[in-house]
Amino acid sequence: SRQWRGVLREYADRLNISDATPIVTLGEGGTPLIPAAALSARTGAKVWVKYEGMNPTGSFKDRGMTMAMSKAVEDGAKAVICASTGNTSASAAAYATHAGIKAVVLVPEGKIAMGKLSQAIAHNAQLLQVQGNFDDCLDIARDLAKNYPVHLVNSVNPDRIEGQKTAAFEVVEVLEDAPDIHIVPVGNAGNYTAYFRGYSEELARGATTKLPRMFGFQAAGSAPIVLGHRVEHPETIASAIRIGNPASWDLALNAREVSDGYFGAISDEKILEAYRILSAEVGIFVEPASAISVAGLLERADAGQIPAGSTVVLTVTGHGLKDPQWALRTADGSDVKPTIVPVDTAAIAELLGLGQK
Ligand code: F0G
Repeated sequence: SRQWRGVLREYADRLNISDATPIVTLGEGGTPLIPAAALSARTGAKVWVKYEGMNPTGSFKDRGMTMAMSKAVEDGAKAVICASTGNTSASAAAYATHAGIKAVVLVPEGKIAMGKLSQAIAHNAQLLQVQGNFDDCLDIARDLAKNYPVHLVNSVNPDRIEGQKTAAFEVVEVLEDAPDIHIVPVGNAGNYTAYFRGYSEELARGATTKLPRMFGFQAAGSAPIVLGHRVEHPETIASAIRIGNPASWDLALNAREVSDGYFGAISDEKILEAYRILSAEVGIFVEPASAISVAGLLERADAGQIPAGSTVVLTVTGHGLKDPQWALRTADGSDVKPTIVPVDTAAIAELLGLGQK
C-alpha cells in the first residue's frame, strides 16, 4: 500500500514541471467519484458526483494551488497574493504557510463564508477585507502583482488551471472514458476551462473516445456569461460564485463552442433546493455554490436535455462545512428547531414511536 502523493507527483508526466520544481503539496486530489443513485433516479441518466470538498482545505482550489505555489517557490517568490470569494484564500493561505512563504489575501468585506475566513486566519495569511466586491479585489490583486514584488496565484495565473485539469484525469481513470456531459459551477470560469483542457488532453493521448459536453451554471443574480455582459453588482447567496466579470470568460466561451456545451443561470431558491436534495438524498454535503451543479442537472433534465442512460459527472467544488448555516434553514426560510428531550429512555422511545421489543 502507498499514500496518494498529490496531483503534481501523480501526474508529473502530464504537467509542466521539472526535477527542479520544488513540490509544495498537502496531498490534494484523488477525490472520490461517487455514483448518485437518487440523482440517477430523478433524471434517467447515470449520475456521478466528483466530491472536491474532500481536498485538504475543503475545495477544488488545492489542485491549482499546489501547482501555482510550487512554481512561485521555484521562481523565488517570497510572498503570494490573491483575490478571493473565500476558497482560493483558504487554499493560498495553507499552501503558502506550508511552503514557508507569506500570503496576502483580498476578500470582499462581509461577503465570504465564516469557515473560509477562519481558514485564512488560521493559516496565518495577511487578510484584507476590501470595501468592494470580488471583481474589485481581483483588479487590485492584478495591479499589485504587476507593480510590486508579489506573485499572483489567482486563476489568471496559468499554473492554476494547469493544476486543476487533473480532476478530469481522475474522472477518466474511474469511468475508463470521458462522460457524455460534465457539469460545473461557474464563477471566474477557471474550473470550467480546466476540465475542458484536461479532457481535451485525454482525448489527444487516446485515453478517451470523446469530449464531454461541458455544462456550466451561474447564479441568476451573477450570470455575466449567460447574459453576455458584465454584471456591476452581482448578488447571490452562493457567495463563492458572486462574480460579475469572470477572469476566464474568453477561454470558457471557446470551451463551450468546441464541446457543444451550455451555460445556464439558476435562481438562489433552486440552488438551495438542490443543496437539500444532495445532502438529504445522496449524503453529500456541499456549500451552496457547489449545489448549482445539481440544480443545473435537474433544470436540464426538466428541459429534456439530458439523454436517458447518458453518463453525467457533476463537480461539487467545496465542502458543506465551509458555510453550514444554510442547512439550518427550512425550505420556507424558518430556522430548523432542534428537538429537546429529557434524560428519559421511555420518553424518547415514545417520541420516536417505538414499541417495546
Ligand atoms: N465553487 C466554489 C466553491 C468556488 O469557491 C468557486 C470559485 C467556484 C465554484 C467557481 O470556480 O471561479 O473557477 O469558475 N471561487 C473563487 C475563490 C472565486 O476565490 O475561491 P471558477
